[in-house]
Amino acid sequence: MKGYEHLAQWVSISDSPADRENHSSDISGHSPHKPDIIAYPESTAQIARLLTWANTEKIPVTPWGAGTSAEGNPIPVRGGICLSLERMHRILKLSIEDRLAVVQPGVKYRELNRQLAGTGWFFAVAVGGDATIGGMIANNAAGPKAVKYGATKAHVLGLEVVLADGRVIRTGGRSAKQSCGYNLTQLFVGSEGTLGVITEAIVRLTPEPTFEEALVAQFPSVAHALHCASTLSGLDAGAIEFLDRAYMGFLGEEPADTLFCEFHSIGDGAEAERRCWAAGAIAVRRATEAVERARLWAARLRAYTASAEANPGARLLTTDTAVPVGKLQEMVSFLQRELSRRNLTGYLLGHAGDGNVHVILPWLNEAQRQAVNGFSLAAVEKSLSLGGTASGEHGVGIGKRHYLKGEHGANAVGLMKEIKSLLDPARILNPGKLLPD
Ligand code: LAC
Ligand code: ZN
Repeated sequence: MKGYEHLAQWVSISDSPADRENHSSDISGHSPHKPDIIAYPESTAQIARLLTWANTEKIPVTPWGAGTSAEGNPIPVRGGICLSLERMHRILKLSIEDRLAVVQPGVKYRELNRQLAGTGWFFAVAVGGDATIGGMIANNAAGPKAVKYGATKAHVLGLEVVLADGRVIRTGGRSAKQSCGYNLTQLFVGSEGTLGVITEAIVRLTPEPTFEEALVAQFPSVAHALHCASTLSGLDAGAIEFLDRAYMGFLGEEPADTLFCEFHSIGDGAEAERRCWAAGAIAVRRATEAVERARLWAARLRAYTASAEANPGARLLTTDTAVPVGKLQEMVSFLQRELSRRNLTGYLLGHAGDGNVHVILPWLNEAQRQAVNGFSLAAVEKSLSLGGTASGEHGVGIGKRHYLKGEHGANAVGLMKEIKSLLDPARILNPGKLLPD
């Protein structure tokens, strides 16, 4: 606690061993690192005061939502202060009339949707972890529904942000259309806590589909499943996901390469089923009943956790490449060839409708770590060669910093560094993330 005691006069802080341990790692395989202290502010004013002090003293500050990042984003790799947003969990406004909610950053997206139940409106981004909306914005999270509704960035109308020096700014606003000045809102979306701390967000609400049908189809190979996915365009799909046979086994389901889809127009499920059979499906199941659909989706969203549980003691490297959707089959057959050529174990799952595929690779020792990193680099290079990206939805965090230049070029990364220097000249905000050193 040394050097931090005086903060306790106006903000709640802790340096208990359990608290420091609980804020040292996320769900990724990146090495844990403990903060010196955890601060639990309850207001924008407290955050502004804390940042003003930390900026003067050059103390690292790493914002913390729910710790559900898959890329190390909230790990306080340089120590200092972990800025937990968990006490800023109030929904400040729900307006169906204006189709928006105003939330503090620590509101969990599932909680917002519980509050909206019965209104016919919802927040249309869903991810596997019990994430906070602040964390989802900071990371531009996406998940299965993005194929229809877009990633988090499509759902943010405005923000309140505290800058590194304690200044508070407001970006965007409450209107659905905005065309007034630089788009500062989107500068902070996906900035992973490196440019400012999000203290309030105005998010869009979306009408709930009036009809939902799930379809689960099994195929003899991943290639068959992805070919089938490519034939589903034109249908009103709320999700087009794939999981390989290993994943289905982890989930306690039939171990077959599988497409998980959702359709929102009557008749589209039946049409999709016909296309699945035509694409060589070996089994197709459709469900309109809410309980069965909920069970299927709970299984899908648990996939990453299930692969961790199936490999006790191992750490996981997770790739997150996304390519133009017509290039997905080429990308995935490359990944499969590389896995077998390098003699590596890797499980595949992803968001087929978005061209976004994850390979999850368990590793136990330094030699295996290097081997999985070599695979990750090859995957990124292939994705870039197909016009894709190193990260579709998990962010840059710790593991993808060295891919930034290859993807964006030296000039664009130079500009990113200038923006960082302008907004955070003392480099206190989430140091060691996103930008290469
Ligand atoms: C998923 C996470 C790993 O798709 O992004 O389940
Ligand atoms: Zn994903």
